[in-house]
Amino acid sequence: MAKTLKTKKFTRTLMLWGIALALSAGVVALSACGAKKAPANSQAQTTTGAPQAFPTVTTATNIKTPADWKSMFPEEVSSFLADTTPLTPVKSYLSIFPFMKTIYAGSAFAKSYNTPEPHQSALQDAKNSPRITQKSTATCFSCKTPQYAVAQQTQGDKIASVPFTSESRTMTMSITCYDCHKNYPGKGSQNKAQDNGTFLGSTRTAFNTAFASTISTGKMNPANAACGQCHNEYYFDPKTGAVAMPKGMTDPFQIFAYYNKIGLTDYVNPNTGAHMLKVQHPEYDMCADDTSQHASLTCADCHMEKNADGTTNHKMTGPLYSSEIRKNVCLTCHTGTTDAELLSELQQIKVAFEGQITTTGNEMAKFTDQLAAANKSGKYTAAQLDPIRAQERDAQWFLDWVLTENSKGMHNPTEAASCMNHSLEVAKAGEAAIAKLPK
Ligand code: HEC
Ligand code: HEC
Ligand code: HEC
Ligand code: HEC
Repeated sequence: MAKTLKTKKFTRTLMLWGIALALSAGVVALSACGAKKAPANSQAQTTTGAPQAFPTVTTATNIKTPADWKSMFPEEVSSFLADTTPLTPVKSYLSIFPFMKTIYAGSAFAKSYNTPEPHQSALQDAKNSPRITQKSTATCFSCKTPQYAVAQQTQGDKIASVPFTSESRTMTMSITCYDCHKNYPGKGSQNKAQDNGTFLGSTRTAFNTAFASTISTGKMNPANAACGQCHNEYYFDPKTGAVAMPKGMTDPFQIFAYYNKIGLTDYVNPNTGAHMLKVQHPEYDMCADDTSQHASLTCADCHMEKNADGTTNHKMTGPLYSSEIRKNVCLTCHTGTTDAELLSELQQIKVAFEGQITTTGNEMAKFTDQLAAANKSGKYTAAQLDPIRAQERDAQWFLDWVLTENSKGMHNPTEAASCMNHSLEVAKAGEAAIAKLPK
């Protein structure tokens, strides 16, 4: 058990970062995803609500809303509906990390990319997003509303290519109970028959397909599946446009190799001519790759408080915002430290991570600018520039993995360091290759 997080240990974390960034990249050790066991301290719940009182559900399109559960699960419903304020005031990532404008050129993310907002506003945010254009398709609703998940279950992948604007009228519910519980709320397993008629887990076809073996064998904790179904790395199937995930993969090195193998390109950088990939938000992947003691914790352990009556608070929070989580989860292992000390160290670690991300991002932008200049000069052939373009794709993928993961490296410091280290190295090698081009 970890005793204390006092300055000595904190310094060690920063040193590990320094070392990891200085040494050459090693591929992150692969750990089987799933198999997350919540620690005893966070498992004090019993399922509330009697299964026989559940409303009868006859069709898959009959999506129950919080109002339907209000009398049965008042605590869950009221905390869920209270999730309307972002954890941190909404900011543009493009202003936090200005290098993004350079490296994302050619992708919609160069236009607009904000820090996350609550589940209650996910659907409206998508509808308002400047990234949505006339060309956008309904597939963009995948992780914003259960209505899309149900439409995909009933209609199949053909729903994915319908124009976003025409589906907009039918997609009216933001993330709700159904997304994680179907119409059987409770702290159940991913199979309602097994758990007193309740369900907790993923309602997303793509996630259930990609991770079928860990789900069906019960190795994936339902409290990770419920979140992982949306908070993960995916791509658009080039044939159908539907959300798809590399089967069973969570490791960024493995997924990059897979995308190269299938020849996937998400967008072309018009300045450099490079065929680029865009990482989504691999929180699940990074947590699944974690091999530290924290791997025993689920997303819910760190992001959902427990109410005094033992029920789960459904307003999303996190270790930096909730002293309840720090006291009841973190400090059970990190004994000998106070809540205030832990909070201050977490804040320092976050700032340090942001510093490392900025260093790597600035290098990436420098490399991108140099390649853009070489491309624009018109002096070089595709044969000369294509290998350097491949380096841009490579270096950016690993930086983007850390950037889009939202935790600023905190979910898995080892993997974050390894990715940024690789990115820096490849960006510098790319700059060296440009310097060697005939003048
Ligand atoms: C149906 C898809 C979906 C599921 C399921 C889901 N999320 Fe989210 N989550 C999102 C989206 C989309 C956003 C960003 C919304 C926005 O920015 O408008 C988000 C945002 C968040 C945020 C940021 C909130 C804030 O105010 O800053 C946290 C934390 C979070 N989710 C944690 C979780 C956890 C933990 C779970 C599982 C208990 C989970 N999510 C399940 C889609 C989902
Ligand atoms: C984003 C996913 C998500 C959504 C949406 C969601 N839940 Fe939950 N719910 C969970 C998780 C995760 C747990 C179990 C937490 C744990 O294991 O620590 C849970 C637990 C429960 C439980 C078991 C008792 C308890 O409180 O622990 C009930 C009942 C419940 N939820 C009802 C609801 C209702 C009603 C809604 C809609 C108002 C809802 N949930 C929406 C993820 C979700
Ligand atoms: C060991 C605790 C821990 C676990 C387990 C964990 N997280 Fe986090 N999470 C954090 C910390 C710490 C942060 C970064 C600090 C912050 O919120 O800004 C964070 C940040 C986030 C954010 C960004 C929040 C924001 O508003 O910027 C999201 C989204 C998120 N986590 C989702 C998840 C999901 C999904 C899982 C499960 C796959 C998960 N987390 C598992 C501790 C954890
Ligand atoms: C199951 C026990 C356990 C729990 C619960 C736990 N930790 Fe840890 N934590 C560890 C251990 C052990 C380490 C040392 C790294 C390792 O080898 O896993 C560690 C390392 C850390 C570090 C890096 C410290 C350093 O300097 O090396 C931070 C930061 C941290 N934990 C924060 C948290 C937060 C925040 C929470 C609550 C969300 C938490 N921990 C919950 C066991 C735990």
